[in-house]
Amino acid sequence: MARAIPRENGAVCRVSILRCQDVHKSYSLGRTELPVLRGIDLSFDAGRFVAIIGNSGSGKSTLLHVLSGLDVPQRGQVWFEGQPLFEPEGFRRIPIGRDSDANGNRARQWQRPGPLKASGGSGGGTSAAVAAPPVSFNMHRDELLNRSFGFVFQFYHLLPEFDVLENVLLPAMVGRSMGNWLTDRVRTEERARSLLDSVGLGDRLAHRPSELSGGERQRVAIARALMNEPAVLFADEPTGNLDTRTGREIFDLLKRLNAAGQTIIMVTHDRELAGRTDQVVQIVDGRVQ
Ligand SMILES: Nc1ncnc2c1ncn2[C@@H]1O[C@H](COP(=O)(O)OP(=O)(O)OP(=O)(O)O)[C@@H](O)[C@H]1O
Ligand SMILES: [Mg+2]
Repeated sequence: MARAIPRENGAVCRVSILRCQDVHKSYSLGRTELPVLRGIDLSFDAGRFVAIIGNSGSGKSTLLHVLSGLDVPQRGQVWFEGQPLFEPEGFRRIPIGRDSDANGNRARQWQRPGPLKASGGSGGGTSAAVAAPPVSFNMHRDELLNRSFGFVFQFYHLLPEFDVLENVLLPAMVGRSMGNWLTDRVRTEERARSLLDSVGLGDRLAHRPSELSGGERQRVAIARALMNEPAVLFADEPTGNLDTRTGREIFDLLKRLNAAGQTIIMVTHDRELAGRTDQVVQIVDGRVQ
């Protein structure tokens, strides 16, 4: 989970796990373009708890979506453990799960983005800036998102027709063959039960989301996000829909996860909570202040 490396003298050497450079993102509103991210450079160390703060509309959620590969920037790149998330325009997209295209050409696992120029960037396994705009996802994006990143949303986004245990099991089911799933089912269910135990919901497995409070729903969402042991847990205002006390409980749960080594990147409006994290990134008008 964490990639913080202890040194012989007891100090901890931090390793950059996620990095972005020159990230631009805008939305088209009819004929007008709304620039939201205007050149974001950031590097996140493994094992850290980072808070992203900023005014409403400053681009925090957009940034989290780009960092986690849920959305694509018009310009710039994001590297996870040195691997670029996005492909530049014109690169062939190979369907997920295939090693070669229809003509039998081997697919490249990770395609380095377009013409590169030296810039001396830090971390992320490359010291190059992106010259060509990456506009589509790297071919292994779905697998990467599901296996390496967990996401917690302000409004939980649990599936109402599934019970608590089934909601938590979902990430483990995605992308698996039936045979593989059946072989692994007992072990996977044990993990889901143990995660729900650890968030204090071990006795609510058969309940539907509608039978839970907001704080309980968010705890289910956190257990679900942890199901595949993500390297990075993203949380977009995880306490934003909760009363102060319940919000503090959810934040304390995130703090405990971080103390156990989980890297967390959290968007919040709550400056007091942000002040209790390792690092605060402030976004002002689509730029890091
Ligand atoms: N899909 C979209 N289409 C058009 N505009 C969008 C879209 N998503 C976001 N925006 C706009 O981009 C800007 C940044 O939105 P974003 O959701 O990133 O802000 P935020 O900092 O997370 O705000 P909040 O704190 O209110 O959640 C806003 O002006 C928003 O209206
Ligand atoms: Mg937002």
